[in-house]
Amino acid sequence: MKTVLFVDDEKSIQNAIERMYLERDDVRCLFASSGQEGLEILAQEEVWVVVSDFLMPGMRGIEFLSKARGIRPDTVRIMMTAYADISIAIDAINKSEAYRFVTKPWVNQELLTTIDEALMRYQLIQALGKNDESLYLSLAQTVELKDPYTKGHCDRVAQYSVSLARAASLDEHAINEIKHGSWLHDCGKIGVPEAVLNFPGRLSEEDQEIVRQHPRWGADVARQARMSDAVVNVILSHHEQFCGGGYPAGLTGEKIPIEARIVAIADVFDALYSDRPYRKAFEFERVMGIMQEMAETHFDPRLMELFGPISEEARLKKSMEDSGN
Ligand SMILES: [Fe+2]
Repeated sequence: MKTVLFVDDEKSIQNAIERMYLERDDVRCLFASSGQEGLEILAQEEVWVVVSDFLMPGMRGIEFLSKARGIRPDTVRIMMTAYADISIAIDAINKSEAYRFVTKPWVNQELLTTIDEALMRYQLIQALGKNDESLYLSLAQTVELKDPYTKGHCDRVAQYSVSLARAASLDEHAINEIKHGSWLHDCGKIGVPEAVLNFPGRLSEEDQEIVRQHPRWGADVARQARMSDAVVNVILSHHEQFCGGGYPAGLTGEKIPIEARIVAIADVFDALYSDRPYRKAFEFERVMGIMQEMAETHFDPRLMELFGPISEEARLKKSMEDSGN
């Protein structure tokens, strides 16, 4: 069961948290009043998320979270403090690799959302670490539930990517990794608030920045779950552009791993050729027109050439499906 451990020496905090979770029967809350007590609980219980106070008598929050990492490396760590001091926050995050930093007093809904995201992150790490192919697709579908207009997107991206990888003469092992990477390429969107993902218009700069974090967030989780380099590469680099104008690293040309260059083409093609929250799918000719223009800057030109016949197949399949409806 989803379990959150709160470590705080103030009793009033425990009461406030208990009130906050009164109506939630899907989350089990545990409490410790000191770092030492918290470590004892961690040694015995499968804690998904730990929220620790920064200033406590005895063991400080940073030391506690660092030790917590030693006991349960997958437990997601959140630091909480009354001191909204950014240098403390950075220090805490670096030393204990805290996932988030929350300031006291908190807004209930914000804290609940932060903890829910941390719980999802834990669940994702556990599922990815199981090395079970059937779980990967169901995880991708969980991401699609958050963003309902992308229904079927991950699976279609996987089909196009596999065809393209085959056309580029990659070996079967690499092709299989690309399939997994394609399913999971947007798993980092679990870390993006739904209100941002489903926003019907142009996003603010700040929200765009949050969306741009999804490759790093997802790759981080995949790495922690000890997934293969190829899968991590797809998740991390599927928004890089051949010309260097992409994110998160601004890699250029063949410095972008080939598996990510493949999935980038499949991802954009499917995005243009399916309905989105803010517009209907484009006609095939328009999709290919846009893709050809982008081929100069965004995509690997050699792969784009190989993608021609694959896009034709997709067009045929879609027209058959549309006439069948
Ligand atoms: Fe993405």
